[in-house]
Amino acid sequence: MTLALELWLPLALILQGYLVAAPSLFRAGVEESVSVTIFNAKAETRVQVQLSVKGQAVAHSHSTVPSGLRGQALLKVWGNRQLTERGYIFHNYTTITVESKGSAVFIQTDKPIYKPKHKVLIKVYTVAPDMRPINEKYLNELFQDPRGSRMIQWKSLKSVCCGIVNMSFPLSDQPVFGEWFIFVEVQGQTYNKSFEVQKYVIPKFELVIVPPPYIRDLSSCEQASVTARYTFGKPVTGKLTVNMTVNGVGYYRHEMGQPVIKTMEIKGSANFSLCVKDMMPLDVADHFRGTVSIWASVTSIDGSRQTTFDDSTAVHKQLIDIKYSKETRKQFKPGLPYKGKIEVTYPDGSPADGVRVRVKAELTPKDNIYTSELISKDGEATFEIPSIPIAAQYVWLEVFKEMADFDVSDVFGVPKDDGHMWWPGLSSKRRRRSSVFPWHWDITKDARFAFTVRKHRNRVGGDDRYGELKPSAERRDVH
Ligand SMILES: *[C@@H]1O[C@H](CO)[C@@H](O)[C@H](O)[C@H]1NC(C)=O
Ligand SMILES: *[C@@H]1O[C@H](CO)[C@@H](O)[C@H](O)[C@H]1NC(C)=O
Ligand SMILES: *[C@@H]1O[C@H](CO)[C@@H](O)[C@H](O)[C@H]1NC(C)=O
Ligand SMILES: *[C@@H]1O[C@H](CO)[C@@H](O)[C@H](O)[C@H]1NC(C)=O
Ligand SMILES: *[C@@H]1O[C@H](CO)[C@@H](O)[C@H](O)[C@H]1NC(C)=O
Repeated sequence: MTLALELWLPLALILQGYLVAAPSLFRAGVEESVSVTIFNAKAETRVQVQLSVKGQAVAHSHSTVPSGLRGQALLKVWGNRQLTERGYIFHNYTTITVESKGSAVFIQTDKPIYKPKHKVLIKVYTVAPDMRPINEKYLNELFQDPRGSRMIQWKSLKSVCCGIVNMSFPLSDQPVFGEWFIFVEVQGQTYNKSFEVQKYVIPKFELVIVPPPYIRDLSSCEQASVTARYTFGKPVTGKLTVNMTVNGVGYYRHEMGQPVIKTMEIKGSANFSLCVKDMMPLDVADHFRGTVSIWASVTSIDGSRQTTFDDSTAVHKQLIDIKYSKETRKQFKPGLPYKGKIEVTYPDGSPADGVRVRVKAELTPKDNIYTSELISKDGEATFEIPSIPIAAQYVWLEVFKEMADFDVSDVFGVPKDDGHMWWPGLSSKRRRRSSVFPWHWDITKDARFAFTVRKHRNRVGGDDRYGELKPSAERRDVH
């Protein structure tokens, strides 16, 4: 979840020239990145990118895909040797699909209720349709209500990692009680979230919720418990009310489940069963991520009352998360082995063992160079591609877990005719196979090695005029 991987579409791949890679799907209202690599560049090259619809330019380099845009657009990329010089050293274009309901913005606080001197932890993130976090620029403001004065403003916040922006605000010892508001502005749109600030009351007793770390199966129940003890250790006797629901993130919206309320006697501790099937529909999207929000409230026989909250229980429809380890490199050296490591975990981050995952490496969809089946051990699985062909410029690496009756393409709403420029990784057939995020990794060759390959070619009579497009015999297209 934390690894920001981009899905790239090769626009043109010419051994001795340039490589343009762009996301396969553009999202309206989002800044998308297009990467251009010029192999063996001898002079500075000005690269320009333009997005146009029906012949009209709608976005240029360093601008945002206009919000409200939807459908097919033309992405043009060109490079000029120098500003003064005329002509292109390369020029190409492709059709891009723009998805309008691009992203969803979520604002979360670590607690629903704060007391004086508490620190409010705020998390803001934006997710793409595939639940992949996207880096965004935010303007955040914190307001207190009922007085409505602005407490703090965070300007131009940009996530450093993983699309998540964290903020914190320490409440004073005498804050205004009541509802406080967080406003977040992203791409001209404002989102809000409120939390409560309440008076601090010295607790008569301590109340702790002991929830399960995660829900193993959405259709069955888990045990949870609550303990209530006076500070000197004596168990609290009284009445316990548990109020719980699932708070989740589905596609483009926040999903709040049905509340389930249970009342029972408590004598120091009490157990109750936690059944998410009573709180949420089971047919949520496969990428559903949520937590169980539990409020526990105890009224002791001496009349004092205490309430506590917990939302640490993860609810994922897919129990297994797969990601590349941090050490796994994104470059390879042609002719040498390539080693990679995958981390296989449960929703609480604990290692998952005995999970079968597949690894595939391809130069093009028809040119598979490696397939392997791995079984995770201690939450890890390693693989080694014995040798990557010398001629390879790009390798598509895909790691997935097979899941039989699962069709992600419906969930994503991907049109059946994907268009010729789409990398087949996006076709419904492939998507159906991968149960976890369809994260593909483009592994680019180390620039120095691209250079080495060229030199070698030159010695055997290659052409050095890389600035011009080569005849197709010397070109390799990947699609
Ligand atoms: C643009 O790129 C495609 C490959 O994606 C290639 O077939 C085509 O020849 C290129 N066009 C030009 C003008 O270079
Ligand atoms: C944000 O805060 C959470 C919890 O405090 C922490 O786990 C996470 O690493 C932080 N993320 C960043 C990008 O600072
Ligand atoms: C917060 O957002 C909701 C939903 O978009 C909106 O209905 C509500 O008016 C907003 N509240 C404030 C105080 O802006
Ligand atoms: C249960 O919790 C929700 C969310 O805070 C609240 O709106 C609702 O009133 C609670 N119900 C009871 C009976 O406490
Ligand atoms: C709660 O469950 C635990 C383990 O299942 C058990 O040891 C304990 O006695 C139970 N407590 C109550 C109050 O029923």
